Formats: sequence, C-alpha cells, structure tokens
Amino acid sequence: MVRLIWEFLGAGTETVVACVEWTLARLVAHPGVQKKLHRELSGGDQRSFQDLPYLRAVILESLRLHPPVPFILRDVVGLPEIAGATEVGRAVPLPPPDGTPVRFVFMAEDIARDPKAWTDPEEFWPERFLDGGEGEDVSPSPGPKEIRMMPFGAGRRHCPGAGLAMIQAKCFVAALVREFEWALPATGGGVDHTSTNALFLKVMASPLRACIVPRRS
Ligand code: HEM
Repeated sequence: MVRLIWEFLGAGTETVVACVEWTLARLVAHPGVQKKLHRELSGGDQRSFQDLPYLRAVILESLRLHPPVPFILRDVVGLPEIAGATEVGRAVPLPPPDGTPVRFVFMAEDIARDPKAWTDPEEFWPERFLDGGEGEDVSPSPGPKEIRMMPFGAGRRHCPGAGLAMIQAKCFVAALVREFEWALPATGGGVDHTSTNALFLKVMASPLRACIVPRRS
C-alpha cells in the first residue's frame, strides 16, 4: 500500500513539476516563443484549451526535448509461435522461447531527438506541432503506428495520468506566463539546460533562476 501511494504521489507530482520547470526554462531562453505564447493567452478570458494550440505545442516541444521520465522499461517474454524469428529490428535478439524474460530499455530522450524523425531535433521550436508542421499528428501518447516521441510511454502500460498531466502542465504554464514576464536574472549567465537524474526522473541540474515581472502592475 505504501509503495502504491508513493508511486502515485511521485509519479503524479514530481513529473509535472519537472515538466513545468523545463518549459519555463525554455521560455526564458526563447523570449520570442514566450511573446507568441503570451499573445495567444491574452486573447480572451473564456477560452478552452482547444483555442490554445500554441500552448499545447510549447508543452509538447518541452516534453520532446526534456521527457521527465528518460527511459521506459519492458520485460519481454518470448512466444513459442515466433520462435522461428531471430531478431527484432536489426540488432536486438528476441527473448528465448522458454519464457525467460528479457528487459528492453527504450530511451525516450534519444527517440525524441532522432534526426531521422525530426528537423533540427536539438532546437526548441514549438511550431513543428502546429497545423502543417512535421509534428502536427503527434500526440502525447503515441498510437500503434509510428513512435516519434513517448514522454508518457507507449502501449498498454503507458502513463494513466497523461491526460491529467497535460492539463496540469498547461494550466500552470498558462497562468505563470499570463501573469508574469519571465527573463534571465540580472546576475549570472544564461539558462543551463544540463539535466541530472533524480531517482527515476530527469530534472534540471541547476534549478531555474529567473527574473519575473508582473504583467499587470
Ligand atoms: C508530465 C507528467 C508525467 C510524465 C512525463 C509521466 C510519464 C510516465 C511514464 C513514462 C510512465 C511509464 C509508462 C510506460 O511504462 O509505458 C508513467 C507511468 C505512470 N504514471 Fe505518469 N507521467 C506524468 C504524470 C502522471 C500523473 C499526473 C499521474 C497520476 C495522476 C501519473 C501516474 C502514473 C502511474 C500510476 C504510472 C505507472 C503505471 C503502470 O505502472 O502501469 N503520471 N508515467
């Protein structure tokens, strides 16, 4: 019971916090994106998330570059009926048909930064997720066809909190950008995007330092 509660609290809070921090860090480093996002957010009070495609694109681009859960594990058991097959893809041997599980590790960060799948994959460029962009049909949890990013995992064990997490991240970022302008602090260099491991999460190695100015002062 303790483990379950710990997993739910850990899985459902620190992940969102990491996502929001990475997103704000990117908005500090990319004032043009922040300006465009603020313009979208200032367009009226009674709007739903459907009316905020750029906000969704910003969160997706942040999750693409900085998936808070950097790798996804699967213990795969071989099936006798595919015993004749010898490999998955080119280099990965299939698990033995006797039922001994083999652990596969999917590197979410590497998948989402694959230059064969994305143009300038290291660039923070939310526009790629807008209509007509190369990622317009990419959703937070991938379908069965093609996986170009998987911040919430994939398949039957994918994150059950993905929908809630997207809403939470959008709400926090929208409120924080609508109310405050985020900029670099007067002292100290730029934003350090180096990451570090914290338990099973990837977080900012140097926590974000920013100068925030109320927009409605
Ligand atoms: C940005 C926020 C989040 C990210 C990036 C994230 C990511 C992930 C990933 C990658 C997994 C493993 C999926 C797999 O193995 O295929 C996972 C599992 C899980 N997540 Fe999330 N998650 C987030 C938010 C949440 C929230 C808000 C909740 C709950 C309210 C939640 C609850 C869980 C639980 C319970 C599991 C374990 C599922 C299982 O073992 O079958 N997560 N999450």
